[in-house]
Parts: sequence; structure tokens; C-alpha cells
Amino acid sequence: MLITIPDVLTPEEVAYCRSLMARAPWTDGKATAGTQSALVKNNRQIPLDAPEGLELGKLILRALGSNALFLSAALPRTILPPMFNRYGEGQNFGIHVDNAIRVVPQTGERLRTDFSMTLFFSDPENYDGGELVVETLYGAQEVKLPAGHMVLYPSTSLHQVLPVTRGERISSFFWLQSMVRDETRRTMLFDLDQTIQSMAASLGADDPHAVRLTGIYHNLIRCWAEL
Ligand code: NI
Repeated sequence: MLITIPDVLTPEEVAYCRSLMARAPWTDGKATAGTQSALVKNNRQIPLDAPEGLELGKLILRALGSNALFLSAALPRTILPPMFNRYGEGQNFGIHVDNAIRVVPQTGERLRTDFSMTLFFSDPENYDGGELVVETLYGAQEVKLPAGHMVLYPSTSLHQVLPVTRGERISSFFWLQSMVRDETRRTMLFDLDQTIQSMAASLGADDPHAVRLTGIYHNLIRCWAEL
């Protein structure tokens, strides 16, 4: 399931991030790729230890921490620090799958990648190409979102970034381990939570059926969450 999270950042936050990115150092993206994906990766990244990247990452994680749609969809346990890439004309990232396990740089903790995320920093009218293409059970889906919007997709998916043919595509990419490992369970919990939210909106948060369903939602989390 691909989930779009609109307005993760305000236009003002996007502009501030872009000004930090303009000052940041950028190096070859192959540095953080596995052997196989390094062969098809053709972009630039902010180095993991650059202060600009660390500040940008904190800003993004703070915004996500209060984003109800994101928390409902991902049920995050641990989120890796966001990274940043840019694709100029002719650059792309061929089809690949993300590593299953990654290490949190600050703590050395190992994390299973359940969700991959791309947060867009370039508006679609400013570049051509550069679509994120994710293979799903229902065929390939192309994603190209306004600046400040994010897509969340299962890390089990094959995906690629098509070549940029005009302008430049800048984005943040990162991973998380969900409290709920199984994708089918995560999807059901997300559907249930969204249904409860819309019920509560139309009937009132104290509607007895909404309250009972909320109880069931939390009890399912108790059954399935790994902390
Ligand atoms: Ni990838």
C-alpha cells in the first residue's frame, strides 16, 4: 500500500530547508548504497555527518511526530535519520530493493526497514522526469508530489527513480521500523483507525460505537505491537 502524507512541511519550512540544503556539501550517492544498488545509483547526497543534514533531519522528524495520518499509517517504532538526495539532468536510480537491515548511526542499533519514505522538496513544475516508480501487486505506480508532501511505501517493494530530463529533483529519503511487522495487519489497523476517525467526526468522539471500536483498535495493537 502506498500512502501519501500531504503537507508534512509548510511552504515556509520547505523554503528554510532549501536554504540549508544550498549551503550543505553534496557527495556521490554511491557512498551509502549496497554493492548491487551502487551499480544503478546515480545521484548526489548530503554526507551523513554534515550539520546541515542533521538539522534538516531533526526538523522533519519533529513535523512527523505530530502528524496523525503518518502515525496511524506507519505505527513507527524507530525512524532512521532522514537523508537527502538530488538528481540533476540525466541522473536516475535504477530499479532496486532497499536493504532489509540498516544501522542507526548515533546508537548502532539495528533496524528492520518496514517502510521507505520520500519527502519531496522540488515542486513538480520545476523539473521533468524524476518520478518515483514503485512496483506493487497492482502494477507499477508513479509518484511525483508537491514540495512538502511525502509518500510512504513498503520497503519490500522494488522501486526506481526515473531519469530527470529538465531541472533538478531534491528530496529526503529514509526508513522506519514499524511496531507492527506484518503488512496486512498494519493495513487493517490503518483502515480501522481511519474509519474510527471519520465516525467520530460525524457522530462525535463520545459516540458509544466509536468508543467500543477504539477499544478494539488498541487491543489489536496490544496483540501485535513489538516494542
Ligand atoms: Ni531505494
